[in-house]
Amino acid sequence: MIPATRPAARAVNPYRPWPARITSILELTEKEKLFEIRLIDPAARDAFSFESGQFAEVSIFGVGEAPISISSAPSKQGFIELCVRDAGDVTGALHRKRCGDVIGIRGPFGRGFPFEEMKGNDILLVAGGLGIAPLKSLINHIHDTRHEFGKVTILYGSRTPDEILFRRQFQMWQHRDDFDLILTVDEADDRWTGRTGLVTGLFEELDIDPADTWAAICGPPVMYKYVIAEMRKKQMDVDKIYVSFERRMKCGVGKCGHCGVGHQYACIDGPVFNYWEAMNLQEAI
Ligand SMILES: Cc1cc2nc3c(=O)[nH]c(=O)nc-3n(C[C@H](O)[C@H](O)[C@H](O)COP(=O)(O)OP(=O)(O)OC[C@H]3O[C@@H](n4cnc5c(N)ncnc54)[C@H](O)[C@@H]3O)c2cc1C
Ligand code: FES
Repeated sequence: MIPATRPAARAVNPYRPWPARITSILELTEKEKLFEIRLIDPAARDAFSFESGQFAEVSIFGVGEAPISISSAPSKQGFIELCVRDAGDVTGALHRKRCGDVIGIRGPFGRGFPFEEMKGNDILLVAGGLGIAPLKSLINHIHDTRHEFGKVTILYGSRTPDEILFRRQFQMWQHRDDFDLILTVDEADDRWTGRTGLVTGLFEELDIDPADTWAAICGPPVMYKYVIAEMRKKQMDVDKIYVSFERRMKCGVGKCGHCGVGHQYACIDGPVFNYWEAMNLQEAI
C-alpha cells in the first residue's frame, strides 16, 4: 500500500543539508557575528527541534562545513541563532555572507543540557569567551520558564572588555533581580569599571547550596579544570556539573571517528557530558 504522505527525504538523511536563509546579522565584536537563520522548507522547520547545548553542521556551498552551537532557545520558533567566530575557511565565508543569502544546515546533533532535570534547582552557569554561545541558549530557555528554577547565577569571563559577547543582553540581565550575572575581564582598559581577573576568582563570594545546585560550564579547554576545582571546593556533586566539549568534528553523526573522546564520540555522546562521565573519559579534562 502506498502511504498517503511520503516522509520528507531530508528528515531521514543526516548528511543532506537543509537550505536556510540568513534573516539577520549582528556584529557582536571584531571577530564574532550573530546570525539568525530560517530553514526554508517548512517541513525542515518542524523537524528541526533541538535542546540547548546541541549543535548544527553549517555548510557554505563550495567551501565546507563546520559544527556550530545553537545560541537561541528552543522556544524561539522558526528561527535559529548562531554566534560565529571568524576562525578559518567556513566561518570566514559565513562572515562574508549577507542577509538573504542561503546556507546549509544539518542537525540538530549531539546531547544537550539536561534541562528537565535541572528544573526545581539553583543553576550556576560559567562561561569563558565564545563558550557563552551554547550557554546563551540555556539562559534564554531558563528565562522562558524562570519560575521553574531557583537562584540563577551566571559567571562570564572575557579576555578584554571589547571581546564581551552579547553585551546588550548582558546589560538587560544585569538589571534583573532574578538573574545574578557577574562579568569579569582578564585585561581591563581605561573605560572598564567592572571586575578584573579570572572567572575562578569570583567563586570566593558565591553562596552555593551544593545539594540543590546544577552547573554548566563552557569555555576554553584550560578553564574547565580550574572551574571544576572551585565547584568541588563548594562540595558540588560531580554528576550535577555539566561540561560542553568541543572536538574536531566532521560527520556529526558518529560515523567518521574524528571526534573521539576516550571511548566515546563527542558528536553523539556529547558535546555535553556530566563531570562524572568526563572523569572516566581519557584526556577529556
Ligand atoms: C560542538 C561544537 C560547537 C561549536 N560551536 C561553535 C560556535 O558556537 N561558534 C563558533 O564560532 N565556533 C564553534 N565551534 C568551533 C568551530 O566549529 C570551528 O571554529 C570551525 O569548525 C572552524 O572551521 P573553519 O573552516 O572556519 O576553519 P578551518 O579553516 O578549518 O580552521 C581554522 C583554524 O581553526 C582550527 N579549528 C578547526 N576546527 C576546530 C575546532 N573544532 N576546535 C578548535 N579549533 C578548530 C584549525 O585547526 C585551524 O587552526 C564549535 C565546535 C564544535 C565541535
Ligand atoms: S564527527 Fe564523525 S564521529 Fe563524531
